[in-house]
Amino acid sequence: MTVSHDLPVRIAPSLLACDFSRIADEVRRVEEGGADWLHLDVMDGHFVPNISFGPPVVEAIHRVATIPLDVHIMIDRPLEYAEAFAKAGSDILTFHIEAKDDAGPTIEKIRGLGMKVGITINPGTAVDDIAPFLTEVDMVLVMSVWPGFGGQSFMPEVLDKIRQLRDVHGFARDIEIDGGIAPETIAQAAAAGANVFVAGTAIYGAPDVAVRISELRAEASAAYARS
Ligand code: DX5
Ligand code: ZN
Repeated sequence: MTVSHDLPVRIAPSLLACDFSRIADEVRRVEEGGADWLHLDVMDGHFVPNISFGPPVVEAIHRVATIPLDVHIMIDRPLEYAEAFAKAGSDILTFHIEAKDDAGPTIEKIRGLGMKVGITINPGTAVDDIAPFLTEVDMVLVMSVWPGFGGQSFMPEVLDKIRQLRDVHGFARDIEIDGGIAPETIAQAAAAGANVFVAGTAIYGAPDVAVRISELRAEASAAYARS
């Protein structure tokens, strides 16, 4: 197997696993530890059976963060709320193909607001469903758990979709993977062709976040070197 891209490894800690009572410190901790992006999980209680936070919290994080905000919106109406997330300081806005709004207008809206566009698929959704949009997006996020909660087990069966994106569709931009990423699972995701790795529990649950971020990066880079 060969990794068919030349993209950098990006480690994106998910703030969902941090201590929300001291969020500015939690941002600083992973930035100093070498994080590339901050992954913010927005949940509306409709698209997923959980509620996390919305634009005001993204805006508060934006005031203290120095690295890009990678905002993953698990919400029914991405088109309706895109502007609020732009105003809050999102750099990349990633919406679900399974949401209620049509993908075409949603992509146009996000791009028109000056953000990068990500499109994401749940474990049960095929690459074919997003194939018409691949030339229009900056990133594809392949979910490796059913969204809604941190701390779930990695689903290796989604890796075929990453290979399909790289090898069949020739998708050469960022492919992010989200859910259950840890030192034990990151290498297989990297070997399949992912280059952006979200990790919540594995980073914020580690005794030393800087050491854990370095470990994750080293495992991913070693997987590239081997393939
Ligand atoms: C799941 C979220 C993930 C989650 C990852 O709905 O999209 O970003 O927080 O958490 P871990 O790394 O703990 O699986
Ligand atoms: Zn996420």
